[in-house]
Amino acid sequence: MTPENNAKKRRLHFEIFRYNPEDPDSKPHMQSFEIDELPYMSLFMALNEIRETQDPSLQFDFACRSAICGSCGMMVNGRPALGCRTQTSDLPELIRLHPLPVFKLVGDLSVDTGTWFREMAENTEAWVHAKEAFDSDAQEERMDDELAQAIYDSDRCIECGCCIASCGVANVKSDFAGPAGLNRVARFAMDPRDTREDSDWFEVISNAQGVFGCIGMMACHDICPKELPLLEVYAYLRRKALSSLFAGNKDRDHAA
Ligand code: SF4
Ligand code: FES
Repeated sequence: MTPENNAKKRRLHFEIFRYNPEDPDSKPHMQSFEIDELPYMSLFMALNEIRETQDPSLQFDFACRSAICGSCGMMVNGRPALGCRTQTSDLPELIRLHPLPVFKLVGDLSVDTGTWFREMAENTEAWVHAKEAFDSDAQEERMDDELAQAIYDSDRCIECGCCIASCGVANVKSDFAGPAGLNRVARFAMDPRDTREDSDWFEVISNAQGVFGCIGMMACHDICPKELPLLEVYAYLRRKALSSLFAGNKDRDHAA
């Protein structure tokens, strides 16, 4: 007998947040749906089943279905998670789904993470700043393996927004760069091709919108579906902020 035949069949009860902000007659409410659980069923499959068989107006986002595009973040029983990566077998029979907080609601479970991430990238200037003009004939420079790995680790962020939704500060302070924003800053701060000085980074991160806005609950680190080392990111940026502060003080002392 296969494991799926062996497993007890469950009837899943969904309570799903419904609201269309574009429709003046729409009121936020929870709507119930029931479906039979299938073997290896993800939330993506369950929501598709509901949309195809019970309510074609249900809004939610999915594109890659394999934890790559970052579009399917939602609150699953009060915890941010990727719908495509969450198996119903890991959840109780009652599943409550809400849209991610912090981001602008498009409708039902669909939110606009793109605008938030674009504004964050602009505010933190999350791109390589080079003093020299690009030289296509320049020799390729070798990067230390450990450093290349750390940059690669930061670049694995899929901008799903789960860490932002789990962050107590990002939920109440709209200008806080948040874990994903600070991870983005760290990615460029580590990169030797970025020629910004410590004092330039000080302006970007050493304030309440940056690393000193974090109150250290670190839910982001536990929630991140890509298991990014967000604790290390914060530690790295705090060290960088303090060293640039001390360097600034030393310069002032010497000048005095
Ligand atoms: Fe998602 Fe993790 Fe990136 Fe946050 S850091 S946006 S949780 S992938
Ligand atoms: Fe792309 Fe879930 S559908 S991350």
